[in-house]
Amino acid sequence: MSAQKKITNVTVTSLRKMKQSGEKIASLTSYDSSFTQVMNDEGVDVILVGDSLGMVVQGRQTTVPVTVDDIVYHSKAVASTCKRPLLMVDMPFMSYYSTDKALETAAQLMQEGQGQMVKLEGGQSEEKIVRKLSREGVPVCAHIGLQPQLIHKLGGYRVQGRDDQQAKLMLEDALKLQDAGADALLLECVPSPLASKITDSVEIPVIGIGAGAGCDGQILVLHDILGLTPKAPKFSKDFLADTGTIQGAVRAYVEQVKDSSFPSSEYSFNE
Ligand code: KIV
Repeated sequence: MSAQKKITNVTVTSLRKMKQSGEKIASLTSYDSSFTQVMNDEGVDVILVGDSLGMVVQGRQTTVPVTVDDIVYHSKAVASTCKRPLLMVDMPFMSYYSTDKALETAAQLMQEGQGQMVKLEGGQSEEKIVRKLSREGVPVCAHIGLQPQLIHKLGGYRVQGRDDQQAKLMLEDALKLQDAGADALLLECVPSPLASKITDSVEIPVIGIGAGAGCDGQILVLHDILGLTPKAPKFSKDFLADTGTIQGAVRAYVEQVKDSSFPSSEYSFNE
């Protein structure tokens, strides 16, 4: 880690300040203590214990079978070495179908799992839940665009927001979720111009994956940056191939997010 890297812990407030100052937010998924230690040392700002663990750790076909207990198990491991980064944890499929259920899940994720922010998939349909969680002191990141938990309804992982109607709805979702108290947005698989428009329209930080360089920050799945995914998505980049070490790959990812050279248009959906 370079000498000038900050050592203060990342909080919801610092993420907002980063947006205001134009400093890009570098985020990665992690599922255990060893990789988290590397991310902690190499300047990753936000670590997500994502339900992608269902696919990259458990070998499932989708994220749907992942349970709250699974997230808690991995989050505890991550928390043991996650010092500077903000620890965000996923609310799995069907773990927030009502406000009571969402509160119960968030309590477990934050108290047992030691998460510092929860992430849930859904647009304005989740407004009530986001508002309640926020009022109860739960930092929330709302995940819009492609929502992998809806895979069995969508029938495939596709770019979202390509037509005008969908794009208008997504912008509305972003504004309503912000109004409901969301502290951050995650935009997945969204054309870059739309993602930039959403980012510029909200005051809360927007972290993108497959959403172009105009977002306030980026997130990728750990296994994708290490070249371990057999059919890696267009938006992910194998940082290990150029660097040769896990530490080097994480460092290069952070540097390229911070200087906005990642994602270039090769790793984005330009329309
Ligand atoms: O579960 C996950 O890994 C995610 C990605 C969008 C980062 O939600």
